[in-house]
Amino acid sequence: MKFFIDTANLDQIREAQALGVLDGVTTNPSLMAKEGITGADNILKHYVDICNIVDGDVSAEVIATDFAGMIKEGEALAALNPQIVVKLPMIADGVKACKYFSDKGIKTNVTLVFSAGQALLAAKAGATYVSPFIGRLDDISTDGLNLISEIRHIYDNYGFGTEILAASVRHTMHIIDCAKLGSDVMTGPLSAIKGLLKHPLTDSGLAQFLADYKKGN
Ligand code: E4P
Repeated sequence: MKFFIDTANLDQIREAQALGVLDGVTTNPSLMAKEGITGADNILKHYVDICNIVDGDVSAEVIATDFAGMIKEGEALAALNPQIVVKLPMIADGVKACKYFSDKGIKTNVTLVFSAGQALLAAKAGATYVSPFIGRLDDISTDGLNLISEIRHIYDNYGFGTEILAASVRHTMHIIDCAKLGSDVMTGPLSAIKGLLKHPLTDSGLAQFLADYKKGN
């Protein structure tokens, strides 16, 4: 399973990259705003900065909600760097734009996906990635992980090449559960990734090894 980090924070992206397990980055307008990145030029520059830190795919979201606007913005984003993946909302014009970009060989990520039917549409439109938001489903008492299972089942039935990018991952167990269910990618916060490191027996075992080493040296 690929690991993407879901942030626009450059320090956190650097830290995840330095860990050696990072395959890409996802961002959205809220994450950009959280870092105080505003204005079209600054936002474009920030995407370039992110691409310069990581080797993998970097999802950059369009703001337009009409087909022509999405094409214009998406083409400008894709021209920034070959790592850029044009992130499009799951609305009719987003699906049309997804087909347009996929026909042109430009990578896409269809975002704000909350049902298997939406994921099926994204795959039919040739999306590179589909982003089911599992945490936001959990937030409304709906099983987000079940959606990952449903999409996996449907995509495997027909051999769709669209990668399932589990998004809105909130904690470490989400990552493990997504891996069990066969998600191709997960995107989450650095804290959830670092949570995978933790086990008290690792800490106590290492402390014992070091103590025993010191006794003989
Ligand atoms: C996905 O690409 C989104 O940026 C993201 O995962 C949303 O997560 P949230 O529900 O924690 O805001």
